[in-house]
Amino acid sequence: MINGRTKTCGLIGNPVEHTMSPTIHNRLSEMLHTNLVYVPFHVEKNLLQEAVEGAFALNLWGLNVTVPYKSEVLTYLKEVDPLAARIGAVNTLVKTEGGYKGYNTDMPGLFRALESDGIQIPGEHIIVLGAGGAARAVTVLLAEKGAEEIILCNRTIEKAGKIADEVNGYMGRNVVRVLPLSGYEELKGRKYLAIQATSVGLHPNDQDAIILDKDFYNLLHTGYDLIFNPSSTRFMKLTEEAGGRAINGLKMLLYQGIISYELWNGIQVSQESAMEIYKLLKEEMG
Ligand code: ATR
Repeated sequence: MINGRTKTCGLIGNPVEHTMSPTIHNRLSEMLHTNLVYVPFHVEKNLLQEAVEGAFALNLWGLNVTVPYKSEVLTYLKEVDPLAARIGAVNTLVKTEGGYKGYNTDMPGLFRALESDGIQIPGEHIIVLGAGGAARAVTVLLAEKGAEEIILCNRTIEKAGKIADEVNGYMGRNVVRVLPLSGYEELKGRKYLAIQATSVGLHPNDQDAIILDKDFYNLLHTGYDLIFNPSSTRFMKLTEEAGGRAINGLKMLLYQGIISYELWNGIQVSQESAMEIYKLLKEEMG
């Protein structure tokens, strides 16, 4: 029931038409009896500043930010949370006096998702596939959460090198090393967690995987794909065929939303409520 006290939150991005975030936030509000509504806002390429300033002027309580604005939006914020600043990407804005404060809930969301599936980071040897914005964020998170070793594998080795130099620099230890996509032969001798952080295999390119060679998948105890559409990617299928455990990115989507909701409302969402929302997201995915 919308009334004069309803708080409005939303998503800015381009495109936003396929988002599942309204399900997360509107259903949470229903379940928790919060007077809050969440709507998508399609923002044209040259209108981001106007959108953020206009949202503030309209007293929008909070915003999520998606592709392609997660980095560009940093310019228009009053304050940025330190983790989001290190990652270089913001996906959540919280209204404060005089402007919005930016947070990154994607990475804490991934961490909660990993935890909820019993996947440990401290002391772990982890392969990250890719060196774009998502892979960069994952690498920052894993380094900060105490991974023993992060092997950053990418087609363009220079891009991986840049991330490794930066993260090793501020961590004060050589936790990240780089490898070309074809270089996994040298990783034999132990089993790894691999996080697939490229767009390869995303619907409708369901048959693609960043690495197709079975030998690579024999190295993995777990293959974690940030993609959730399709719900089982080729990367995940190859992981399972080699005897590993495969998980998609739907829980990361869930928890980034839950953490945004917690920031906007100053509450802790219970695990029980989170799982109810997860069920709805799975239904929505078909
Ligand atoms: P995002 O910022 O969303 O993570 P991105 O910056 O477009 O996405 O990064 C995409 C990543 O997927 C890059 O690491 C890219 O490899 P390059 O750095 O060599 O470009 C990787 N990628 C995309 N398509 C690929 C393909 N067909 N084979 C191998 N890697 C690919």
